[in-house]
Amino acid sequence: MKIVIQHSPSDAGRVAARQIASTLRLQQNGIIGLATGSSPQPLYEALAALVRAGEVSFASTRGFALDEYVGIDPDHPESYHSIIARDAIAPLGMDPRLVRVPSGSGSVEEVDEAAVEYEAAIREAGGVDVQILGIGANGHIGFNEPGSAADSVTRRVDLAPETIAANSRFFPSVADVPTQAVSQGLGTILSARAIVLVANGSEKAQAVRDALEGPIEASCPASFLREHDDVTFCLDEQAAALL
Ligand code: GLP
Repeated sequence: MKIVIQHSPSDAGRVAARQIASTLRLQQNGIIGLATGSSPQPLYEALAALVRAGEVSFASTRGFALDEYVGIDPDHPESYHSIIARDAIAPLGMDPRLVRVPSGSGSVEEVDEAAVEYEAAIREAGGVDVQILGIGANGHIGFNEPGSAADSVTRRVDLAPETIAANSRFFPSVADVPTQAVSQGLGTILSARAIVLVANGSEKAQAVRDALEGPIEASCPASFLREHDDVTFCLDEQAAALL
């Protein structure tokens, strides 16, 4: 476990970007795990700068996103299909045909079948080389809310009320926020060969402390990351304030 604390989110993003670039440079056709949210944005910007400088290329890198809302049109601007296209695929110059996002569309049976197939696709691809993560204020990673099992796989999940409230800022009202998602499981995430978590801002400070210094248990899903042997937390000073 490595913990890097930087003054600002952009400094933390640059450190995280260098780490990811050096991991992927070692792979011919690497596989990156992509996260949505405000936390990874400075990281994607820093990776885009490395691409422009010719230091790394994602043109043949495969990608698997962590999660997607259930019941949202993939073309909705707040779907994770749209956000991954906007925040990761475009700035990093990825080939959209090589990037997958879980499906949250169709009947319940179709969503559940697609989740099983998604989990299998990650394994068949050989697993993720480096996984990017943010963290929810309640300690969730992906959409693995408190109570998620350490060996969980990609599946349909209920969103916690605090997650629905937090994500309502992206929708016209709280009633418009999907109440379910499809998320890679904690077991899926922990099977990545390396993990880089980024967290910024004081609203993440308690979750970061619980993840790093609290008990390793399902009440803080991110605490299970301490059982992985190649995890880096890249934090700004505010997110690290309670350590
Ligand atoms: C979202 C996502 C997570 C993300 C978290 C924090 O609901 N499912 O992957 O890490 O919540 O988001 P943000 O970085 O915008 O605070």
